[in-house]
Amino acid sequence: MTISIGSEDRVFVLTGAGISAESGLPTFRASDGLWAGNRIEDVCTPDAWERNPGKVWEFYSARRAAGAKAQPNPAHVALAALEGRLGDRFFLCTQNVDDLHERAGSKRLVHMHGELTKARCENECGQAPVEDRRIYASLDEVGRCVCGGRLRPHIVFFGEIPLEMGRIEREIQKATLMLVVGTSGSVYPAASFVHWARLGGARTVYVGPEEPLNASAFTEVVVGKAGEALPGLFRVE
Ligand SMILES: NC(=O)c1ccc[n+]([C@@H]2O[C@H](COP(=O)([O-])OP(=O)(O)OC[C@H]3O[C@@H](n4cnc5c(N)ncnc54)[C@H](O)[C@@H]3O)[C@@H](O)[C@H]2O)c1
Ligand SMILES: [Zn+2]
Repeated sequence: MTISIGSEDRVFVLTGAGISAESGLPTFRASDGLWAGNRIEDVCTPDAWERNPGKVWEFYSARRAAGAKAQPNPAHVALAALEGRLGDRFFLCTQNVDDLHERAGSKRLVHMHGELTKARCENECGQAPVEDRRIYASLDEVGRCVCGGRLRPHIVFFGEIPLEMGRIEREIQKATLMLVVGTSGSVYPAASFVHWARLGGARTVYVGPEEPLNASAFTEVVVGKAGEALPGLFRVE
């Protein structure tokens, strides 16, 4: 199959953990709802941070180490190349916290669930997130904000509100084609984006090795691994 993209088309792409699977980063539901062997409620909820911030940093330090070793795969590269052709008619929203899209060359992107390579104040005191790639061996090494709050990973924990939602909604409204790659369709609000796009009349395409939970909302489902299916999928007219 090829997807023709005309001169009037605007493309909105949503990616999930599956696009980084071929780079060696495990998906979230690959092992029965565990993320790299951890229960979500122990490592990425506000409650986990309250109870045991050391464990949360231990988990995200390990994700940082794995992310730094991983390399973008042909799926990340194909999306960066598509952006190169479409310019401002392309927008990428990722649920991933790794930086493989940026390292493949993507520029017009938002990380709706945060970024592994940043930290921010736990008090939401108004200070902007800071770049932070450190691998912490203990909580004592973690710095503090000017307000005295501890730095936490710049990650949207389960139960928190995703980032950049206003911009994401505006971009979905403008899109004529929504492409969703490697996400199980179980985490909201991201799983609703396809419905919003359909309301606006967009064509909606899913790419992944198995049907997502919200498969019926797509006009087409391309069954395959992202790294094999995305290169060569688009024809820009
Ligand atoms: N790399 C990361 O940054 C990373 C990794 C794990 C989890 N997470 C976080 O956990 C949440 C997980 O939700 P989710 O829906 O993104 O992931 P998920 O783990 O719930 O689902 C992964 C999906 O990827 C698909 N998949 C597996 N291999 C694939 C491949 N080679 N090509 C294409 N698709 C493939 C699976 O069929 C599945 O539908 C996200 O919010 C994210 O923030 C992030
Ligand atoms: Zn602060």
